[in-house]
Amino acid sequence: MTIEAAINDLKQGKMIIVTDDIGRENEGDLVALAEFATTDTIAFMAKEGRGLICTPVSAQIAHHLNLHPMVEKNTDNHGTAFTVSIDHINTTTGISAADRLLTIQALMQPHNAADHFRRPGHVFPLIANAGGVAARAGHTEAAIDFAKLCKAQEVAIICEIMGDDGIMLAGDSLALYAQSHNLTTVTIIELTAFLTITKIEM
Ligand code: 5RP
Ligand code: CA
Ligand code: ZN
Ligand code: ZN
Repeated sequence: MTIEAAINDLKQGKMIIVTDDIGRENEGDLVALAEFATTDTIAFMAKEGRGLICTPVSAQIAHHLNLHPMVEKNTDNHGTAFTVSIDHINTTTGISAADRLLTIQALMQPHNAADHFRRPGHVFPLIANAGGVAARAGHTEAAIDFAKLCKAQEVAIICEIMGDDGIMLAGDSLALYAQSHNLTTVTIIELTAFLTITKIEM
């Protein structure tokens, strides 16, 4: 599928699927932009995605809200930049779709401050590398690069796609899933190529 189609979908509040390299995680993540998300977005990810719902943010937002790394020394296989998890202070238990959406969308609001979030919580921010997919070919950077291409706030929502049997979907099973849910699928390689060809500065 084309990157333009993915951008259009995201701007309309639709989710897309972004796959990374077979030699990396070989996973397909549902990706949505926080700005256009609804409680249905979170509910769909929980019910049909079944992975861990995470929230990529730009380094600036993480800095502004004191979102510190979850661990001092990151030993994740891919160095995924998890911060300490959070809940907005106006949430109840923090886990409902409405509570998670409230927390996630509060990250976009410049008037929000670090103390507007309880720690730990049920939302998992991930800090995107400032160099985007060109610097790190992860789902975190792909989500934030898409936010920039959509000229949207740099907060996204992602979730890995797991099958009924607990096995992560990839290849034919992921293609079938995308078809049945009518979702555009793009690869991080396609996104990187698009940014190179169009010479869009990230
Ligand atoms: C958090 C993860 C996922 O793989 C997610 O896609 C973010 O990680 P990365 O940017 O490394 O792809 O581990 O659920
Ligand atoms: Ca991972
Ligand atoms: Zn809980
Ligand atoms: Zn990933």
